[in-house]
Amino acid sequence: MIRAIQADITTLKVDAIVNAANESLLGGGGVDGAIHRAAGPELLARCRALGGCPTGEAKITPGYKLPARWVIHTVGPVWHGGKSNEPTLLANCYRNSLALALKHGVKSIAFPGISTGVYGYPKDKAAEVAVMIMREYESRFDEIIACCFSEGDKKLYESLLKA
Ligand code: AR6
Repeated sequence: MIRAIQADITTLKVDAIVNAANESLLGGGGVDGAIHRAAGPELLARCRALGGCPTGEAKITPGYKLPARWVIHTVGPVWHGGKSNEPTLLANCYRNSLALALKHGVKSIAFPGISTGVYGYPKDKAAEVAVMIMREYESRFDEIIACCFSEGDKKLYESLLKA
């Protein structure tokens, strides 16, 4: 099942939450900052040992103080107008995160809108990519959650999920 909710992703009690990180994996603003604050300093120490992450790929750490057991860190593309391979790279983020989750026995997973903040990916286009890949994996999870920060984002996902 795929569903959209409006929430702070750091509060969710799911097997894994996904972080919209940058290639350094050393933290930042937005959802990345919120996840590091809520997980505590052990998360940064663990991330340092991972040696970064290329755009479109994903790496996993424990959730430490988070209610979620795992954090899957993925790096979305910066939006440069749509002709720089952005849709493929964003699809890779969702696909690689879900594949890594399956390897760790994750049955419930929540995603933020990767790339739709500082990285400037248009929210409607990003949500289309997210839902397309979520649907590919839907049957292998109990629950895939699109965790929206605003009510508008939630409505956007709900309209795509109805279609
Ligand atoms: N829970 C759920 N969603 C959130 C939360 C939260 N607590 N906080 C923000 N969002 P962004 P990006 C939404 O900018 O565009 C960081 O500095 C937000 O409304 O966090 O992939 C990294 O280190 C937006 O829809 O990530 C990178 O340098 C979405 O999360 C860079 O930002 C993503 O916004 C990554 O940029």
